Amino acid sequence: MTSPQLEDDGFAALAEKITRERGFGCASYKEKCVRRRIAVRMRARGVHTFEEYGQVLDRDRHEYDLLLDALTINVTKFFRNPETFAAIDREIVPALFARVEPQLRIWSAGCASGEEPYSLAMLMHRYAIAQGKRFERVDVLGTDLDRASLAAADRAVYLEPTLGDTSDELRQMYFSMQPPYRIHREVRARVRFLRHDLLREPFPEVQHLIVCRNVIIYFDRDTQEQLFERFASALLLGGFLVLGRVETLFGPARSMFAPVDSRERVFRRV
Ligand SMILES: C[S@@+](CC[C@H](N)C(=O)[O-])C[C@H]1O[C@@H](n2cnc3c(N)ncnc32)[C@H](O)[C@@H]1O
Repeated sequence: MTSPQLEDDGFAALAEKITRERGFGCASYKEKCVRRRIAVRMRARGVHTFEEYGQVLDRDRHEYDLLLDALTINVTKFFRNPETFAAIDREIVPALFARVEPQLRIWSAGCASGEEPYSLAMLMHRYAIAQGKRFERVDVLGTDLDRASLAAADRAVYLEPTLGDTSDELRQMYFSMQPPYRIHREVRARVRFLRHDLLREPFPEVQHLIVCRNVIIYFDRDTQEQLFERFASALLLGGFLVLGRVETLFGPARSMFAPVDSRERVFRRV
């Protein structure tokens, strides 16, 4: 039986190894969450200590990919939490088109396989068409740490389960009729993807809207607080931050935002 102290040392060493070798900054994520994910992979490989699992990673590089897959939780959907998208449609889309800047910059941070940024582009397109506005003003950027998810996002071809929260109207407007579902060309053309690590890289600036949902919940409190301040700096005055239902805005950044929809955690940069 390994002692708890040795197990703690073993965890710290493994976390450092993963960060050093694969650039996944374990120390900024909630430790409980990282431990749980690693434990799943350890069980799958039938090993009992962090040290042994480190040896598995050395022998089998494919296991590294499986581990990173487990650590970056890539679950997403089109219009995931439809009430949040209803708030965006109601409170943000018209306000963005009313802005004077020629380009409208929208950033979906931690976008996984792209459903969130495409959903945002669809709402912007529907409004532009209905109101006679120029959709070409819209630039949506989707970023994520995970390359495989981004490759799927670039393909822009999806299967039924991920369309589950999409209304019939939006399905008809923006997806091909038969599976696998392709996204409407005009919408696709305004969305681009980039590999980006929220913890280590500079943020794209001068944004009108930042949507970061179901991502920072995995980070520790200090990291979350820093990210809120960095989001505030990346937004134009009057721009919006959407965190969605599971996140809470706290720390010094609170004074840089006014609440727009408290339930859906929509804020305006002031
Ligand atoms: C659960 S998905 C959220 C997808 C989408 N925002 C949604 O709410 O449906 C979380 C995503 O955050 C990404 N992620 C985790 N750590 C990250 C980091 N440091 N920088 C950028 N993306 C990260 C993961 O790769 C994963 O795709």
